[in-house]
Amino acid sequence: MPFFTSVLNQFPQHSLQVKTINAGQQRQCFIIHRKPQAPHWQEENVREIKDDEISRVIETSAGYIVKYIKQRTWHDNLRIFWGASKISTELRSCIFLQNLGLRVPRVLEYGMAFIPGHLWGVTGYYLMEKHLAADIVKHHFRHCDQPARQKILTQLVHDLQRMRDACCVYRDLSFRNMMTDDNGELFWIDTNIRRYSKAGDKFIADWNKTLKVLLQELSMMSEPAEHDGQRAIQALML
Ligand SMILES: Nc1ncnc2c1ncn2[C@@H]1O[C@H](COP(=O)(O)OP(=O)(O)O)[C@@H](O)[C@H]1O
Ligand SMILES: [Mg+2]
Repeated sequence: MPFFTSVLNQFPQHSLQVKTINAGQQRQCFIIHRKPQAPHWQEENVREIKDDEISRVIETSAGYIVKYIKQRTWHDNLRIFWGASKISTELRSCIFLQNLGLRVPRVLEYGMAFIPGHLWGVTGYYLMEKHLAADIVKHHFRHCDQPARQKILTQLVHDLQRMRDACCVYRDLSFRNMMTDDNGELFWIDTNIRRYSKAGDKFIADWNKTLKVLLQELSMMSEPAEHDGQRAIQALML
């Protein structure tokens, strides 16, 4: 479904605003789309979660997460106009995965750079609710006990099954993009999927490739007790 129908309708409030985008007080103009319940926020007293050449993620003083997508090439700016920018694909994917029943962040506001081309700026940002969960990789499954880890893997297999049935591939399928809480619930972030019209050769090749990467990651971070989970993921290959 085109970006404008699947995403735009969910964000009924629109405005044009200049916002500060980083600790260096750089400012940029955005076309902002909000849900009525979106909080008001600004770049003050924020907690920096990550900052590299691709994105900057912060936690606002009220505990919301803002992800800025940085401009990397000129193509990034042009993609905004036909809904193919990273922001558009992450938001569209988020809605799609939510409809599949996966736990994804609830996005409340997003902003598209107006007059992109601002050197070293961002192509946009989105504000979402914080998952009350921890990064799986950073905690290396350690803050969970064995039954909780088993639960994560069972949920993972279940979520992957849904994606496979819907012919979509998670572009950056990695434990780096999953979070978990003490109960072993699995939450997805960095949603960016590629969808296929049918389970043809292209889908199968892409699907198997991403699963292989995930299995490699799992083999490095898991213990022998997780072998069942590995086998279950292997069984999802086509
Ligand atoms: N909804 C969220 N709730 C809590 N933490 C989040 C959320 N979204 C992102 N984060 C934190 O920000 C980090 C980077 O986010 P991510 O979307 O994976 O960025 P990138 O595209 O740069 O990999 C995550 O590892 C996580 O710690
Ligand atoms: Mg990520």
